[in-house]
Amino acid sequence: MIDGHTKVCGLIGNPVGHTMSPVIHNTLAELFSHNLAYVPFPVEKDVHQAVLGAYALDVLGLNVTVPYKSKVMEALSQVDPLAEKIGAVNTLVRTEEGFKGYNTDMPGLYRALCSEGIRLEGEKVILLGAGGAARAAAFMCAQWGAEQVYLLNRSYGKAQALAGEVKEKTGRDCICPMALGEYGNLPEEKFLAIQATSVGLYPDVDKAVIEEEAFYRKIHTGYDLVYKPANTRFMQLVKKQGGQACHGLKMLLYQGIIAYELWNGISVPEHMALQVYEKLKHKMGIGDEG
Ligand code: ATR
Repeated sequence: MIDGHTKVCGLIGNPVGHTMSPVIHNTLAELFSHNLAYVPFPVEKDVHQAVLGAYALDVLGLNVTVPYKSKVMEALSQVDPLAEKIGAVNTLVRTEEGFKGYNTDMPGLYRALCSEGIRLEGEKVILLGAGGAARAAAFMCAQWGAEQVYLLNRSYGKAQALAGEVKEKTGRDCICPMALGEYGNLPEEKFLAIQATSVGLYPDVDKAVIEEEAFYRKIHTGYDLVYKPANTRFMQLVKKQGGQACHGLKMLLYQGIIAYELWNGISVPEHMALQVYEKLKHKMGIGDEG
């Protein structure tokens, strides 16, 4: 029940109308009996003013989405070292001095992989894409001990730049940039593949970034960051060649869970995270197989 003591959290970005984050945070508030409401705030232009205004209004915390994940940093009193390294902030936490920026996309993806039973340590990984979503995945692979990452992207220059940045900032030289068409040069073994391009996203549901079956024979497990649709063409192609495949809804779940933990100084037990996940799946019309 909203009353005179209700704390406000929200999402800033443009657009924000499609967001599923209110489902995550308002369900958590309900489960914990926290007097907290989470709302979307479309920010058309001035993200700096929006952040200062939110601070003045005693907003407890914010999520940040496209197109402000790096631009928002100029409005913060502090940036967590991990977010600084990745160069992207998706969560703001209220402090005495102002908002402090964090990146929960990267640990959210790691928690999602763990929850799906997918191991990263010592693994050989194919990472598809070098845009915003792929950044979190590339830093995650370096930080959590993937043995080798083959970073395949349509624009080779962007793959090269991201590989160089990860090496410089983490000290691990584990990323080998390649052009998409070069997958034939990959070593003869099976890989964990993380699909971090925007190809296959609704409404382009009949597309995958690579279509050839020969590529999918190299994959033992495929994790698609896309979750709409819930059975992407990439997942279908992985499964057709006998691999296991997951969509990215748990990454969305856990980046939200970690933000909620930071705002409220709590830790969310796994059974509660899974209750929120059920609600998310229901809202998205995803069945139990998803
Ligand atoms: P996001 O935030 O979803 O990562 P992004 O930063 O725009 O979005 O990155 C999109 C990613 O999908 C990039 O890796 C992009 O490849 P380029 O770097 O070559 O642009 C990739 N991508 C988008 N459309 C593609 C297509 N039709 N074929 C291959 N890759 C594509």
